[in-house]
Amino acid sequence: MNNKITQLFNIKYPIIQGGMVWVSGYKLASAVSNAGGLGLIGAGSMYPDVLREHIQKCKKATDKPFGVNVPMLYPQIEEIMNIIVEEEVKIVFTSAGNPKTWTSFLKEKGITVVHVVSSVKFALKAEAAGVDAIVCEGFEAGGHNGREETTTFTLIPMVKEAVKIPVIAAGGIATGKGMLAAMVLGADGVQIGSRFAATEESSAHINFKNIIVDVKDGDTHLTLKELAPVRLIKNKFYQEVQELYQQNPTKEQLIALLGRARAKKGIFEGDLENGELEIGQIAGLIHEIKSAKQVLEEVIGEFNAVKTTVNQL
Ligand SMILES: Cc1cc2nc3c(=O)[nH]c(=O)nc-3n(C[C@H](O)[C@H](O)[C@H](O)COP(=O)(O)O)c2cc1C
Repeated sequence: MNNKITQLFNIKYPIIQGGMVWVSGYKLASAVSNAGGLGLIGAGSMYPDVLREHIQKCKKATDKPFGVNVPMLYPQIEEIMNIIVEEEVKIVFTSAGNPKTWTSFLKEKGITVVHVVSSVKFALKAEAAGVDAIVCEGFEAGGHNGREETTTFTLIPMVKEAVKIPVIAAGGIATGKGMLAAMVLGADGVQIGSRFAATEESSAHINFKNIIVDVKDGDTHLTLKELAPVRLIKNKFYQEVQELYQQNPTKEQLIALLGRARAKKGIFEGDLENGELEIGQIAGLIHEIKSAKQVLEEVIGEFNAVKTTVNQL
């Protein structure tokens, strides 16, 4: 394929593997890049020296373009950005913060910058900050989300109407049909998270991968909106959060219940009861753990097949 996104990143298919805490290390990122998509290392769960190691290993594992996702809430963000520059990473996806803060710094170093947004307002802010493209993420997505609960199906055409820069759709896309639908709505490419979380190369615990395969529609919910809204599987920890909500809790009480390292406990250590299990609604359509290459080939195969039959509708 040849379009704005394949040209921007110099990749074969306009498919980006979303940066994911405790999931997307160098193994997943390099596997996706080697298969023709764009792999992203998720810096959000890595200490600076761990990130450096993953970048170096990724360079050895692929000669194709790859990038790093940086949630801007990250405490040691300056150190992270300096490592990215020192290691000559060419592509950075920023999320969870103001795109103004780091875009010009990265652009001055010749880095391609993409920012993740969940509304038209923030899409315009990101464009004004000078990013090269935006990821527009609907609230069906796994991980942290916008409070407004705007769906991918509605967000993409509204953002497309408002901005000139390329738009990457995220949230609820796991198949070639989903990808085609997003592109019909105006997206120039797609970012896929949940589907890649359940791959062989994902660094998530096998318990977490297995529960993704078991999840049905309705098994996840966007919660903890007073902190950073996050879509979680309805496990024991989620029920505890809901019980606390019955008591009209303060923000401090929610922070205390969340504690530290809940996502690590659930996703990386496989504690399905007490951990935060971040996954998207589309997990209901994920039935098998496969390799990243198989996933990419299936998505592209279905995308091409459906494209040729769609005019019969
Ligand atoms: C386990 C998990 C962790 C995630 N961590 C991050 C992250 O660190 N930074 C980020 O920008 N997005 C993160 N996301 C969002 C993904 O990058 C991607 O945009 C999202 O999963 C797309 O929606 P989907 O899950 O429906 O495919 C995460 C998603 C999941 C499922």
